[in-house]
Amino acid sequence: MRCTDWTLMVLVWTRCIGIAYFEETIYRDPMSSVTFYCHPSQTSEQYMWKLVPPQKTETILFMNNANLTSDKYYFLESRYHSWDLGLKTVMKRHSGTYLCQEFANTGLVTLKNYTLVVNGPPKLSPNIPWLNTVPVIEGNTAELRCDVTGSPPPSISWFAMEDGQIRSIHIEGHILQIRNITRACGTKYVCIAENRLSTKPLLNMTFDLDVQFPAQILLYDAKSPRRDVISAILNRKLGMEVILRCDVMMYPEVTINWKIRNLRNSQLRKIASYIPGVGISEHDRRKTVYTFKFQVIPNKKVTIFDVIFRTDKEETFSEYVCETEGQQFPSTQKSIKIEKLP
Ligand SMILES: *[C@@H]1O[C@H](CO)[C@@H](O)[C@H](O)[C@H]1NC(C)=O
Ligand SMILES: *[C@@H]1O[C@H](CO)[C@@H](O)[C@H](O)[C@H]1NC(C)=O
Ligand SMILES: *[C@@H]1O[C@H](CO)[C@@H](O)[C@H](O)[C@H]1NC(C)=O
Ligand SMILES: *[C@@H]1O[C@H](CO)[C@@H](O)[C@H](O)[C@H]1NC(C)=O
Repeated sequence: MRCTDWTLMVLVWTRCIGIAYFEETIYRDPMSSVTFYCHPSQTSEQYMWKLVPPQKTETILFMNNANLTSDKYYFLESRYHSWDLGLKTVMKRHSGTYLCQEFANTGLVTLKNYTLVVNGPPKLSPNIPWLNTVPVIEGNTAELRCDVTGSPPPSISWFAMEDGQIRSIHIEGHILQIRNITRACGTKYVCIAENRLSTKPLLNMTFDLDVQFPAQILLYDAKSPRRDVISAILNRKLGMEVILRCDVMMYPEVTINWKIRNLRNSQLRKIASYIPGVGISEHDRRKTVYTFKFQVIPNKKVTIFDVIFRTDKEETFSEYVCETEGQQFPSTQKSIKIEKLP
């Protein structure tokens, strides 16, 4: 009974040594030095130091006393029963796993396993671009992830672009969460990562938050002296110039159509479209009555699409419909009737 207890204790004990002693991660600044310790067993006839660089194949540095490396910074330090590997000047290329191994009857045995991490400025995780565009629909939540690593671990702070200036938003950490996004949130967010080895310019990631929202249409006669009065019916005399202005606030841009409803038979016909990035496409073959104009105001996310005409023909007294074509969001429309004043 006692004996069993004792065996169990020894087992636990050796496992403790294993974890604390056999594998070790060592952090060093560039230009410093380091020694990796190893004690091959006295009966061992062949032992070696190996380097396994990250994502590369292993190379043998020393086999017994034979020097197999061309790197002049490695040296051996053997005294008593120790057979230690020294590194005079640590450089970025020296990072990796250092294994002290010996050949025993049972095969190759790893005596020591050191991971050397060479400290450096923060860097982006592999395959992560520093400039990102993040589309998000209004009302949703965005999570911006500052995907940087570094040793020593960098501190990360967040900034937002406001009126062309980058301002701190007093938030630190890897992830910035923005909840219940409004169109006012649509700006650039920047995370800056810094540790004591950072150099200028500091490492950063930039996120352009593209807030998408459905179209809002304002429809009015731009020739009217009282533009603030938006009504569904306009009374105009024969021979007057009308500029019906369809002012659409939306993101992303969608196609906007002008349609006319004939007041007698209720038929709707498309007379022109504004296609983002292309321009105006007219569908009316006669092209004599109506002219069109557009203006894009990107910073306000507004597109203005005007139909201009003179009320000198009977057919111009109609209902005019401005409609956005549904893509991301359902289509929307507003209309205005032009009625003849006697
Ligand atoms: C090992 O050999 C390389 C040349 O191949 C030499 O630069 C280096 O100093 C040698 N290292 C030791 C510890 O002798
Ligand atoms: C050395 O340690 C590293 C990190 O724990 C491990 O991934 C690797 O497999 C170990 N190598 C050997 C030969 O034990
Ligand atoms: C999101 O914002 C809108 C507009 O500011 C507000 O009406 C709504 O209550 C907010 N929703 C949540 C879940 O905070
Ligand atoms: C962000 O990083 C880019 C690319 O290295 C650099 O040009 C820019 O100046 C940095 N921005 C800031 C705010 O540090």
